[in-house]
Amino acid sequence: MTKSSVLELLQSDKFSQEITIKGWVRTFRSNRFIALNDGSTINNIQCVIDFENTDEITLKRISTGAAVSIKGTLVESQGKGQNVEIQVSELEILGDSNPDEYPIQPKKHSLEFLRENAHLRVRTNTFSAVMRVRSKLSFAVHKYFQENGFNYVNTPIITGSDAEGAGEMFRVTNFEDNKSPVTEDGKIDYSKDFFGKETNLTVSGQLEAETFAMSLGKAYTFGPTFRAENSNTTRHLAEFWMIEPEVAFMDLDGNMDLAEDFIKSVLKDILETCKDDLTFLDQRLTQEEKSKPQAERSDMSLLEKLQFITENNFKRVSYTEAIEILRNSKPNKKKKFQYPINEWGADLQSEHERFLVEKHFKCPVILFDYPATIKAFYMRLNEDGKTVRAMDVLFPGIGEIVGGSQREERLDILKEKMAALDIDEKELWWYLDLRKYGTAVHSGFGLGFERLVQFATGMGNIRDVIPFPRTPQNAEF
Ligand code: 4AD
Ligand code: MG
Repeated sequence: MTKSSVLELLQSDKFSQEITIKGWVRTFRSNRFIALNDGSTINNIQCVIDFENTDEITLKRISTGAAVSIKGTLVESQGKGQNVEIQVSELEILGDSNPDEYPIQPKKHSLEFLRENAHLRVRTNTFSAVMRVRSKLSFAVHKYFQENGFNYVNTPIITGSDAEGAGEMFRVTNFEDNKSPVTEDGKIDYSKDFFGKETNLTVSGQLEAETFAMSLGKAYTFGPTFRAENSNTTRHLAEFWMIEPEVAFMDLDGNMDLAEDFIKSVLKDILETCKDDLTFLDQRLTQEEKSKPQAERSDMSLLEKLQFITENNFKRVSYTEAIEILRNSKPNKKKKFQYPINEWGADLQSEHERFLVEKHFKCPVILFDYPATIKAFYMRLNEDGKTVRAMDVLFPGIGEIVGGSQREERLDILKEKMAALDIDEKELWWYLDLRKYGTAVHSGFGLGFERLVQFATGMGNIRDVIPFPRTPQNAEF
């Protein structure tokens, strides 16, 4: 006798064979039919109990959430809704679940309620589907890079440098409470801390990934990333996973090609590997959309959106063109934007990005050549002296999903840029070395994995696509 998974059994035609299956009861109806799930698929298998060989006490213990072991035979189903079912010959309760207390009842729960029960929410259809898709998507990411000659590099999580030049980091220290030593001028003396310097959780593995690209040619990171910005939005987490490829001898055009090909490829991959889960999530989203006012509803279903992305080219637009479009747009003229666009140089807010993608171009957009003043120090300066070779990929419903650039490979210009922004050369001596020894054109980007999972699953809130979200005022579990 073999122990099977629900997925295998649902696809099997090995009738009349004895099988064993273990899983959790999703529902139990008419004192006879168990819908059993073991996580291998969104679908349940129906197990039919024979009263004759099941005692009264065991029968009473079969309830939603209980773990059970079932022996029986696989038969063609007589009932509607399934092809096969299990005729149970023996049932053992492995773990009870008190129906008066178990929070995950077989009914619709709000996403907010489920967030408070994040340790149990993966037992629901929605979250098990999302988490299976997340898992397959992360495998697709590795597959794409491994098949295209990239080396996976594990960049440090504790870092002594601030890649993005923003004061939004989580400090790592082992000073005891209220006992940090201070220097003569009253500042905290980090030379006495564990690492002998001030250290933080990383906001990006890019700078270290660049060192690998300048030797291995093609490198990528895929790891946890931390930002202490106090953004309580549906697209920000304090701890998220970022994918950062970095490639030597590749310019910004190559970088755009890579980002587009990569995103299309991994979405195509899950359209193949996650059919059942995506079909379920597609129906879930369609249902959810019905509760929205007509004007806010999407005219495409989830599966149509995914298909659309994989089959259409992303629109490439310069920042300067985008500003013109925005300046002349209806919402700008009618003062509907919270941040009106008046002049060149303005930083784009998510309302502007979404206007471009959802209303104007109606497809993913890659914006490039941003003003140097609103982008990070390491981006390559253009001949005009005021724009840099930056790119952001903007997605419908999400806004920015990718941020990247061609890197400044010229030592003198990089030094000037750092001086202007007051970045200490001594802190990034090793980064400058890359420009001293064998420097070359190189580029890369960062993609927020959770934003990709959000797009792939149609979930509106980023907190619902990561197992245990970390956000301001929230680090439960
Ligand atoms: O645009 P960002 O800040 O770019 C970088 O960090 C570069 N060093 C990347 C590179 O060139 N290697 O972040 C990249 C992406 C964003 O486009 C977004 O998708 C995601 O990371 N991201 C977040 N996702 C969730 N929560 C947050 N707080 C995020 N901040 C950025
Ligand atoms: Mg960005």
